[in-house]
Amino acid sequence: MRVMITGAHGLLGQKLALVLAQESLHAILLTDLAPATFFKNARFEYQQLDITLRGDVKSLVAQWRPDVIINTAAMTDVDGCETDREACWRLNVDGLKNLIIPAKKLERCRIIQISTDYVFDGKAATFDETSRPNPMSYYGKSKLAAENALASSGVPGAIARTQVLYGTGYNVRQNFVAWVLEMLEKGKPFRVVDDQVGNPTLADDLAYALLLLGESAATGLYHISGPEAVDRFTFAKSIATVFGFSPDLISATTSAEIGQAANRPMNSAFITIKFEAEFRYRLSDTARGLTRLVQQYRDGERHIESLISAEH
Ligand SMILES: NC(=O)c1ccc[n+]([C@@H]2O[C@H](COP(=O)([O-])OP(=O)(O)OC[C@H]3O[C@@H](n4cnc5c(N)ncnc54)[C@H](OP(=O)(O)O)[C@@H]3O)[C@@H](O)[C@H]2O)c1
Repeated sequence: MRVMITGAHGLLGQKLALVLAQESLHAILLTDLAPATFFKNARFEYQQLDITLRGDVKSLVAQWRPDVIINTAAMTDVDGCETDREACWRLNVDGLKNLIIPAKKLERCRIIQISTDYVFDGKAATFDETSRPNPMSYYGKSKLAAENALASSGVPGAIARTQVLYGTGYNVRQNFVAWVLEMLEKGKPFRVVDDQVGNPTLADDLAYALLLLGESAATGLYHISGPEAVDRFTFAKSIATVFGFSPDLISATTSAEIGQAANRPMNSAFITIKFEAEFRYRLSDTARGLTRLVQQYRDGERHIESLISAEH
């Protein structure tokens, strides 16, 4: 298979590169905004690609002819999307449409689009693939519009909704776990909301799940996340315990108290049975995910080096 990744320098993109490198049968094209890549694995081809530039996307896809495109590129700053709506739409919706146009011209090119629990309002107890979306933020709206664009495009492919992504990588944007660890290392008390509930998802696991999805002929929606719903405060305490810090540094607060720019679903717990049953793969729960992460942090430079060389 010829697999093309967008946003390959992001957290999920890096982990995808790593799992793809283990699959010797695939040709791999990594793309991102940077003119050159830090990946050292000779099996990877790399091309600079801004997916908002329609002409560039069209010529690269037409020339490289991927069998599957995994689109991880996105504006993921939820509060930033609220204030810079134009940039958010241009990347999260129009960027995907730019991929759809040339993919349609190729025979059988699939697109795997990554989406989010923020397409939901969080008012039901749990959400499966049949639950009705009702986004509360501009980010959520843009991701839902992208889902609809792919679903109505006639291009075969699947939408993988995920949430509370965490992991470590090379120069990646801060995620919840990284932020909690940074705060714990300072040794000063801090507060975490206890009214936002979701399923923490180890990026390494999601990458493997996306590879399975990309290699399959599956179409439609999949909820792919860790199996366990947990509020952020409890999750933060688990992070402290597993990483050997005092959980007492963390106290609970509410979303109303911290006042984020974008509204978020309070409880967006996923039901993940569809993906787990069809692909016979269950992602790590919080305890296992964090234990694996501790090891990656312990390995430090060695982990980053193995990520960059994508050879471990
Ligand atoms: N993080 C979460 O908790 C979460 C939850 C649910 C769903 N998701 C979805 O999962 C996917 C991956 O998330 P992530 O956390 O891995 O994101 P990320 O770390 O922010 O990675 C996104 C990558 O896309 C690149 N990019 C930005 N603008 C681009 C453009 N115009 N063209 C091409 N590439 C561009 C970024 O480069 P720069 O860094 O240089 O901007 C970055 O390397 C996204 O679709 C996101 O919506 C994430």
